[in-house]
Amino acid sequence: MTDKYEDRIETILANMTVKEKIGQLNMLRYEEGEEQEQQLRDGLVGTYIGVSKSDVANHLQQVATEETANQIPLLFGLDVIHGRHTIFPIPLAEACCWDDDVFEKTAEIAAKEATEDGVNWTFAPMLDVVRDARWGRVAESAGEDPYLLSRYARAKVKGFQGEDVSAKDRVLACAKHFVAYGSAVGGRDYNGTSMSIQTLWDTYMPPFMAATEAGVATYMTAFQELNGTPCSTSEYLFRDVLRKMWKFNGIVVSDDGAVQECVSHGVAETRKDAAELCLNAGVDIDMEDLVYIEYLEELIEEGKVSMEVLDESVRNVLRVKFAKGLFDNPYVEPKTRADDDISKENRAYAREVARKSIVLMKNNGILPISRKQKLVVLGELADSGLDMLGTWVLEEKPHTVVTLVQALKEQNIDFTYEVCTGPKKAFDKEAFEHAVCDADLVIAAVGETALMSGEASSRCNIDLPGGQKDMLEALQKKQIPFVTVLFNGRPLAIKDVAEWSPAIVEAWALGIEAGNAVADVLFGDYNPSGRLTMTFPNYSGECPVYYNHNNTGRPADEKMELSSKYTDAPIEPLYPFGYGLSYTNYEYSDLKAEMKENCIYAEATVTNVGDMDGEETVQVYIRDKVASYARPVKELKDYKKVHLGAGESKRVCFEIDIQNLGFYNMKLEYVVEPGEFEVFVGHDSTTTLSNVVRYEQ
Ligand code: GLC
Repeated sequence: MTDKYEDRIETILANMTVKEKIGQLNMLRYEEGEEQEQQLRDGLVGTYIGVSKSDVANHLQQVATEETANQIPLLFGLDVIHGRHTIFPIPLAEACCWDDDVFEKTAEIAAKEATEDGVNWTFAPMLDVVRDARWGRVAESAGEDPYLLSRYARAKVKGFQGEDVSAKDRVLACAKHFVAYGSAVGGRDYNGTSMSIQTLWDTYMPPFMAATEAGVATYMTAFQELNGTPCSTSEYLFRDVLRKMWKFNGIVVSDDGAVQECVSHGVAETRKDAAELCLNAGVDIDMEDLVYIEYLEELIEEGKVSMEVLDESVRNVLRVKFAKGLFDNPYVEPKTRADDDISKENRAYAREVARKSIVLMKNNGILPISRKQKLVVLGELADSGLDMLGTWVLEEKPHTVVTLVQALKEQNIDFTYEVCTGPKKAFDKEAFEHAVCDADLVIAAVGETALMSGEASSRCNIDLPGGQKDMLEALQKKQIPFVTVLFNGRPLAIKDVAEWSPAIVEAWALGIEAGNAVADVLFGDYNPSGRLTMTFPNYSGECPVYYNHNNTGRPADEKMELSSKYTDAPIEPLYPFGYGLSYTNYEYSDLKAEMKENCIYAEATVTNVGDMDGEETVQVYIRDKVASYARPVKELKDYKKVHLGAGESKRVCFEIDIQNLGFYNMKLEYVVEPGEFEVFVGHDSTTTLSNVVRYEQ
């Protein structure tokens, strides 16, 4: 955050009472009515969560800047996670585009729509590295890889904040949840996390470092305890790392209720103790649980919280409000467009992003399908607008969604539709028999409801829920040609489904244009290009499972009984990180990698050997073969998308600074050790095309 307003901040601060200073650290969940307005007039509110109408925002700004002693404008925060009205694919789906321009542009569109509603702060991007698909919030993440999440972080901060966050169509971004929330033990939401300092810094910190380098304005604390310390009370995280090491001077906001939850964690005896711990740790704003506003004045009087600490947090809040331009103009244009009035351009872009987010997981040649056959569509999710929107959609507007059934109707496809089953429905065998009796091909829409993933939606069995598996098994037994289309918010344990299905299209929760995007892929109007950013297990019991694991002393080997594997599951996951098929094929050849002046130069030829143009995501991984600590068998270090016409070849080149190949040691020193690095280039994390280069310090 810029520091050009420090003088004005000091002037305001000097005129504030203690109560008014504490008010700036108090975030209310908006409720219409005189009680909250009086609190605002009394200077006891600095930010709101839940204001999403421009007229409400303008009214509250008027009260704040004209009817209070210090005339300090307000921040209005909202969870605009994957779109405000133009709902894009959930983050775990969008990440499968491997396209930084997409990551940025969807954030930019979301910011514009949000600011039209009076919102000036979004609680996004979520930058939690996730490795356990049982955790429902993997839906909000960009997946399991720190490098990809770091590029995602930079793009999202730029998309939300732009070059100048004071612009009227930009919002403050929020790097969350700091830190390592995604490593909850057992994949059970809000559960504790425990890890070495090296794992914390090698795996979970990089996306947040990237967000800070990109100038993110705010941070949000994680709910859980990390190695016994609730993140919201961690001086290490917020004072040592964020403020001292990374020179972050924006706002830290607690997650919703995380301050008072320190009592439940057992590190604070009372809410008052929790307020003392969290503010002293550097958490500036208390979201919704009213702990700061209730106890900070006493804590100041008792000397348990110093005036310096209080002033520092108020400065952070004022600095961000200045940077957002709110002191110059706190108001937004009154909104004239109806919320559901989504522009043609935005809807077209939502369809483009949805197409790119789709991952073709299996295809025995049945895809793409012809429109001219007796098509039967089965499954509740084929016509459920709500479930296409996925998690974190605040206003439920299924009527803005094009479902698969609607898309087929709009394309005048001759098909019949029968629900038969769903995520919470048993399999209706009678309806099924009737529906498929003369089908040439069945499109089976199965998966999860939108609420089966997201916050507080951990599942210990991540198989297909309801009677959906029964339906797919029945199709397989009847030898009816069918395509499984998955609508889900997390990797599912679908080994059987993968064996039964002639083809599988991973369609996630793709947002308002879900149906059109799926139809575009099914009929071959778009050549699928999505690549997984999170590993799919065979069975739930394999979680957490991820590609960038260490080798162990007994790496999994089918021929070695005493090796690191399950006796009741395959050694390899069902679908690996980076995986995704296409209607064409790409071949890699002639890899050349060399070390020159502390930089790895790698290049390979990629050829589209099929008869359909396509987008290939060329991925580069390295392995540090011998180091003072065990290192992952592969680590993604770069990726590029290339368009290849049918039969076309391109030489794709990469430069990787050796400084990007280091790791943290026990003393928390970032080290790049001399030795051999194996450089892999390929289609996904299973590539074996490699060269070895040597780095001499
Ligand atoms: C929730 C989430 C957080 C969200 C916040 C405000 O509990 O953990 O991601 O931004 O509360 O809704």
